[in-house]
Amino acid sequence: MSSANPAAAPDAVLVVDFGAQYAQLIARRVREARVYSEIVPSTMPVAEMLAKNPKAIILSGGPSSVYEEGAPQLDREIFEAGVPVFGMCYGFQLMATTLGGTVDNTGAREYGRTPLHVSRTSSTLFEGTPAEQPVWMSHGDACSAAPEGFTVTASTDVVPVAAFENDEKKLYGVQYHPEVMHSTHGQQILEHFLYRGAGLRPDWTTGNVIEEQIEAIRAQVGEKRAICGLSGGVDSAVAAALVQKAIGSQLTCVYVDHGLMRKGETEQVEKDFVAATGVQLKVVDAQERFLKALAGVSDPEEKRKIIGREFIRVFEQAQAEIVAEAPDDHPVEFLVQGTLYPDVVESGGGTGTANIKSHHNVGGLPEDLEFQLIEPLRKLFKDEVRMVGAELGLPEEIVQRQPFPGPGLGIRIVGEVTKERLDLLREADAIAREELTAAGLDRDIWQCPVVLLADVRSVGVQGDGRTYGHPIVLRPVSSEDAMTADWTRMPYDVLAKISTRITNEVKDVNRVVLDVTSKPPGTIEWE
Ligand code: XMP
Repeated sequence: MSSANPAAAPDAVLVVDFGAQYAQLIARRVREARVYSEIVPSTMPVAEMLAKNPKAIILSGGPSSVYEEGAPQLDREIFEAGVPVFGMCYGFQLMATTLGGTVDNTGAREYGRTPLHVSRTSSTLFEGTPAEQPVWMSHGDACSAAPEGFTVTASTDVVPVAAFENDEKKLYGVQYHPEVMHSTHGQQILEHFLYRGAGLRPDWTTGNVIEEQIEAIRAQVGEKRAICGLSGGVDSAVAAALVQKAIGSQLTCVYVDHGLMRKGETEQVEKDFVAATGVQLKVVDAQERFLKALAGVSDPEEKRKIIGREFIRVFEQAQAEIVAEAPDDHPVEFLVQGTLYPDVVESGGGTGTANIKSHHNVGGLPEDLEFQLIEPLRKLFKDEVRMVGAELGLPEEIVQRQPFPGPGLGIRIVGEVTKERLDLLREADAIAREELTAAGLDRDIWQCPVVLLADVRSVGVQGDGRTYGHPIVLRPVSSEDAMTADWTRMPYDVLAKISTRITNEVKDVNRVVLDVTSKPPGTIEWE
């Protein structure tokens, strides 16, 4: 498969990534300020960065010390090109040392919430913010002298130079992390850099993305045809809706009903999604086929492989049928994928070919499919994808959906997957979802897998009789990106209601248990 990235990047604020995932958060915060941003690795030559015509540059924090051997460096040219630069934490120290300031390894460490003393509350960055403000620190080295031409604007009890500015050269820096929410005025300071320091306007919106992408998709596809696999998830739904808006009936969506969906999800795609978008949809009922392939299999990796393999086969068959149904029509040359910006960044900074994580893509489509990719969400974060979806008129239930794994309920049954077990789990899951929604907890909980321990039985008493049933596990988690997660401290009365309803209403379940494990060590899914 070849990847095409149709849209020319608008002039962006570049966030130079020095590692440890700070850059993604900074890029999101810049976009929250309605300025377009992109992440580049710190290993990119400065000339290449400047060739992108950035409107401003932000240097992220990172795990290194500027004096460590092999610590990432930047060519001085980055500070001399006339492009406004904002250094944060490691980026701040790098700016300081590169331009002749002093950073010492004093052993004076500061980690976590720290009071910042602002000496120039009328400065470009700090105007309108308090003279004392909490900031989030994470450093060992400390700047003791700013480079020539810079004004020191803040300090802490430990660090004499905790922020500096050079308005003439448009260079700014802070020792702390303004991007994290514990720095209470961090967003304001970032916006001051963007609007006051760099003179940018807050005019980037998801509406721009829609217009820009529609134009780019039309140019890319011409008269040809495209297909898109719908999983019921947010990303593929929004990608499909966007492409549909651009090329209408030249797009056909394929929805493989593998029988591992939650209650009502297939209907949601078949009815609500089609009603909202007018998309041409081919639904393939492959439930029997998946059940047969999964019969007798309990090993989670094996299940994943089988589901992935069957999915590809069904998808290929559907594709052949779409071609066969209209052989005289233009060829089907494009495949729509809902790849998001974090995937692109993690695969090497947004250049080169698309990364399709096999783990996170039920499609796991084979490399030899003869398609060019259309990836209209390649530049967006998840919350932005939701905004685009809402703007395209997709129903709230689709746009605000919690993440759901491609292999579906197949990996939420610990043990063999059978029709009866799936039906049982679907019921339990539907009750949990209903009660979470009724309690207004949907936005507080990142996702709440409901898991059937099919290989476990325990004794219970229901009515007058002894039962020997299965436990259901509730796994509510709070997270920002699913890389790490904590179990959600949910109200007891909501848990009680879910438990009572599941044991009363779902046959063969006589116990409901709560998973109180963070990630790590536990993953979110049980499998
Ligand atoms: P784990 O269980 O690894 O899950 O902590 C992290 C996040 O990824 C989701 N997940 C998947 N999503 N296809 C997907 O689209 C998959 O195969 C898959 N496996 C896990 C999981 O629900 C959680 O949000």
